[in-house]
Amino acid sequence: EKGGWSSFMAKEVSEEPEAVANTLRGRIRDGVVAIPELDGLDDLFREVSRIVIIAAGTAAYAGMVGKYALETWARVPVDVDLAHEFHYRDPVIGPDTLVISISQSGETMDTLMAVKYARERGAKTLSICNTQGATIPRESDAIVYTHAGPEVAVASTKAFVAQIAAQYLLALHIALVRGKLSRTEVAQHLLELEAIPEKIQHILDTEQEHIEQFAHWMADTRSVLFLGRHVGYPIALEGALKLKEISYIHAEGFAAGELKHGPIALIEPGQPVFVIVPSPREAPVMHSKVVSNIREIHARGARVIAIAEEGDAAVLPISDEVLRVPLAGAMFEPLLAVVPLHIFAMGLATAKGLDVDQPRNLAKSVTVE
Ligand code: BG6
Repeated sequence: EKGGWSSFMAKEVSEEPEAVANTLRGRIRDGVVAIPELDGLDDLFREVSRIVIIAAGTAAYAGMVGKYALETWARVPVDVDLAHEFHYRDPVIGPDTLVISISQSGETMDTLMAVKYARERGAKTLSICNTQGATIPRESDAIVYTHAGPEVAVASTKAFVAQIAAQYLLALHIALVRGKLSRTEVAQHLLELEAIPEKIQHILDTEQEHIEQFAHWMADTRSVLFLGRHVGYPIALEGALKLKEISYIHAEGFAAGELKHGPIALIEPGQPVFVIVPSPREAPVMHSKVVSNIREIHARGARVIAIAEEGDAAVLPISDEVLRVPLAGAMFEPLLAVVPLHIFAMGLATAKGLDVDQPRNLAKSVTVE
């Protein structure tokens, strides 16, 4: 039920803090990850030589964020594949591969087919899923449920942040098992992760109205670009996807470093560009690179909307709007930066008078290939 909310999507965005908290609840004990569903899998985690993440849509962007965490923390090579591209090209997988599928519904046919294919090839399969007892987890060797609660709006929001949180738990567990992070390091990252729900809540409390008002002013926009780097890159893709899905505006996400290799040609005066800015404290080198990207597009007249950490003053003279997110470690920024983008897409669709829960031509779960 919608309760007092104007849409399921509005309700579900407001539940993003809870979705992360519920996904973590009971799964962290004495500074280590304690997920009963993973009992008995440590040998597998120690021995796999690579991980392939398969998913579709928003879940695939969550998977791209997960890749950064798994590679950085657990030092396992990770590929992220769109489920529908995966099994048609005869991928190189076998018993040394762990295939992680990510699906909110657990019923996406493309993802299910890819999981079945992986099993036939002898790979071990682990499902990250939000729907208890769904088909994909039933077809997998192991399951880690996200506990985001039922998601009704077609555009996925709270499930997305929960999918990232679940992958972080998994990545930290694998990192410890493989001896790539110390217990102290794992405990520190887990503390950061546990602080995320409160930080998301802070964004909702302090920025939501501002972003909705801003989205209202932008209601006539015909095209929006999104730039991000490192873990901000999949967030740029997710921001663009949400806008396409529910407000029918042409939107593209790019890796900020790609700008000079093509997308900068799109910049003309007035072009709105969202830029996800890394933390100046946590990622100073990337921060300065993204700030120079902003300078380049600002100089060409782009309308820059920066999503930046509180206190980051470098963005002020070169941005038209700054949406603030609380301080967090570099790996944790996606869980925060995505929130303003979800609010923005919803605000814009609402300003255009569209049905944010049931966008045209889309279904919540696509059970055909
Ligand atoms: C799509 C939905 O078709 O399926 C998206 O419209 C979703 O919102 C994608 O991200 C994947 O769905 P699931 O259930 O596998 O996460």
